[in-house]
Amino acid sequence: MEQSASRATAVFPAGISNGEYGLPEDRIVVMEKGQGCRLWDTSGKEFLDFSMAWGSCLVGHARPEVVDAVVTQASMGSNFAYLNTHVLALAEEIQRVSPAAERLRFCASGTEATMYCQRLARACSGKPKILKFEGAYHGANEAGVTSLFPTKPAAYPAPELTSAGTPAMAEYLLVAPYNDAEAAARIIAENAHDLAGVIMEPLQRCTKPMPGFLEAVRDVCTANGVLLIFDEVVTGFRLAYGGAQEYYGVIPDLIAYGKALGGGYPIGAFGGKAEIMEWVSEHRIGGDDYVWMASTLGGNPISTAAANAALGVFREPGTYEYLRGLGAYMRDGLTRVLETRQLNAQVIGDGPLAQVVFSTDPVFDYRSTQKGDSTKGRALMLGLFERGVFLNPMGTKLYLSLAHDEPVVDDMLDRFDDALAAI
Ligand SMILES: Cc1ncc(COP(=O)(O)O)c(C=O)c1O
Repeated sequence: MEQSASRATAVFPAGISNGEYGLPEDRIVVMEKGQGCRLWDTSGKEFLDFSMAWGSCLVGHARPEVVDAVVTQASMGSNFAYLNTHVLALAEEIQRVSPAAERLRFCASGTEATMYCQRLARACSGKPKILKFEGAYHGANEAGVTSLFPTKPAAYPAPELTSAGTPAMAEYLLVAPYNDAEAAARIIAENAHDLAGVIMEPLQRCTKPMPGFLEAVRDVCTANGVLLIFDEVVTGFRLAYGGAQEYYGVIPDLIAYGKALGGGYPIGAFGGKAEIMEWVSEHRIGGDDYVWMASTLGGNPISTAAANAALGVFREPGTYEYLRGLGAYMRDGLTRVLETRQLNAQVIGDGPLAQVVFSTDPVFDYRSTQKGDSTKGRALMLGLFERGVFLNPMGTKLYLSLAHDEPVVDDMLDRFDDALAAI
């Protein structure tokens, strides 16, 4: 183990500073530099990055437009915890492009953004429960981590507590199977009297919504007076400039953003109908109709300058055709390699995202994804890591960015083939 890795294991549980990865300790590396779609560790080893900071660096590492914006602002102050020119311009742009976000507020992460959406739904409906779809991740807040990787899934709509320390979820969270419009409609209708909102990833992890599923959830929410929350932390500004709302054509009541929006800098944003967002207005403090919201780093001028620069890059003509084309190229290439090796596996995903599932049965929800051979999946991910492809071996997604191109994907595919040969 190199010296910096042993320092990491001495200070961080599992040797990891910010969670996940689950790397065996002898594989831990420490990163020093990122440029485009590559990373270098402290020993100088180069990695092709197919995590891109869990998708937050969609513009690519150290994209010059973003670096310039950050450097310019850094010498003018990093945070005022207050209105600034960058946050104002960013909010206006999100409001322009996001039909759900009639009003918005900023925080510093996707976890906070989805948390505020849930709190607002509970407050303005006067109802206590939230429904999520099994296997969805909405950040590290309590609902986000419940029924995330259930190992003994209970009968719907009972949740499984994936994380210790979240007992309230047993009472306040309902769970439905993704892509099962009938089951979702039944659970929502039966629980409408105390169900405040439904939170969902429109593209759940890498599983696409079946035709009509999002529309059906939208309709049943409307019919039952339940608010629909889209967690667009991953899909926002990635599937299309207008995110999943534009890509799938369904508009929620509340929406959460993070990741790609920040151009690689810490950001979270949430928005909704004006009358819902009014609940966070400080003019209401002291009343029963006030929702607490405050974030020291929310909307800071560094992150929002970076975000405005990133959005400028995303608005360049051809951005989303490029990302979707390269995503299809990667998924086709992975499929070709798996077929050549005659493996029972498939590739799922949409836009610039892909996931390999070691099963040939149809994948449409959490339980069908779990039928895949997860031991092989983990061995493959670790094999890729060893071959210089940086990714989260616990996560299942491969993330592309604007800095990736076909030769880089081809290079990854060679290493993918080699890693498969070894398992
Ligand atoms: C769909 C989704 N929502 C929310 C989050 C949480 O975002 P953050 O890690 O910025 O808190 C994530 C993070 O991976 C995510 O994938």
